[in-house]
Amino acid sequence: ATGVLLDRLARPLTDLRISVTDRCNFRCSYCMPKEVFDKDYQYLPHSALLSFEEITRLARLFASHGVRKIRLTGGEPLLRKNLEVLVEQLAALRTPDGQPLDLTLTTNGSLLARKARALKAAGLNRVTVSLDGLDDTVFRRMNDVDFPVAEVLAGIEAAKAAGLGPIKVNMVVKRGTNEQEILPMARHFRGSGVVLRFIEYMDVGATNGWRMDEVLPSADVVSRVGAEFPLQPLEATAAGETAQRWAYADGGGEIGVISSVTQAFCHDCSRARLSTEGKLYLCLFASQGHDLRPLLRGDADDAQIASALGHIWQGRSDRYSELRAQRVPDTDAGAPRRVEMSYIGG
Ligand code: GTP
Ligand code: 5AD
Ligand code: SF4
Ligand code: SF4
Repeated sequence: ATGVLLDRLARPLTDLRISVTDRCNFRCSYCMPKEVFDKDYQYLPHSALLSFEEITRLARLFASHGVRKIRLTGGEPLLRKNLEVLVEQLAALRTPDGQPLDLTLTTNGSLLARKARALKAAGLNRVTVSLDGLDDTVFRRMNDVDFPVAEVLAGIEAAKAAGLGPIKVNMVVKRGTNEQEILPMARHFRGSGVVLRFIEYMDVGATNGWRMDEVLPSADVVSRVGAEFPLQPLEATAAGETAQRWAYADGGGEIGVISSVTQAFCHDCSRARLSTEGKLYLCLFASQGHDLRPLLRGDADDAQIASALGHIWQGRSDRYSELRAQRVPDTDAGAPRRVEMSYIGG
């Protein structure tokens, strides 16, 4: 492929997020509520999963279309067996101008202490760890499987020691649930080199019972943190970035806020998402994906698959968060059934 591939709103495709499993060992209520994801829940059968070879083949074709950044997600990606092998294959890919891709992973951190070194050795550049509070009681309640916060903190330290940096920590903020953790989290990660980012609780998926009154707007987060530690706005580092960045005025590093509810960032969204079973989703809030498995498992050659990917992206006009912002619903009742976050990754 030559030239820049643009969708119908003139947005380039630069970022591919690959979900490698729909399973997770946590049951965060905003993502995989226990009542839905119970012992009878039907996860994807092994035969449905894309193999590492299939994923790498697609990633190579996406890179030929301009993708420069790959993020592995889940579910919890570190539950996928031998993930380092996939990382090694993806680390060998190059952009059309010969650069390696920015290869990163979003994890809940529970297995990171065990796996950080092998991931780094396989060629992973960095990690983002989800962490919704520092208080052990609050954290155990958020993950809903009684997982101790100390093990996630140890995972973050192990990732740092392995050189998987700069590390980002994502905190989903739910009003009335973990908002009291905002300041302790800010204090903890200030000056540590870790970039803490606060995410507005989103109406993603169909099972979390999202309500607008549980969203704490990022503007409030910034004013709460700023009241204790003065903040200065930073310029965006890249177009299409999810986070607005703020620096601690005294040089203690930076934080970010991801405001998909109160300030949608669809206008330059350059992200495509590949599900565990090979469906391509053009938006986090899509109801349907484009199934690539028949192409992969049929006799299509690389050029045919690359051309199909190009056409799919060129037909894209998704901008869910912007449209929702215009509707301003108080709940998500009546919205079309959307794909689950645990299925498509963050
Ligand atoms: P880096 O800053 O390069 O590390 O990447 P990132 O900000 O894209 O990564 P990350 O996976 O950490 O994204 C942070 C969170 O932002 C995700 O967990 C989602 O909650 C949210 N998010 C990411 N991409 C989108 C998007 O396209 N739309 C919406 N609405 N939310 C997104
Ligand atoms: N709203 C905001 N962020 C969410 N995540 C999962 N579900 C939601 C939601 N409803 C975040 C996780 C993690 C990433 C994978 O997505 O906390 O950081
Ligand atoms: Fe698992 Fe992450 Fe979803 Fe929590 S948010 S249930 S850790 S995939
Ligand atoms: Fe992109 Fe959809 Fe998120 Fe908008 S809502 S930023 S189009 S993924």
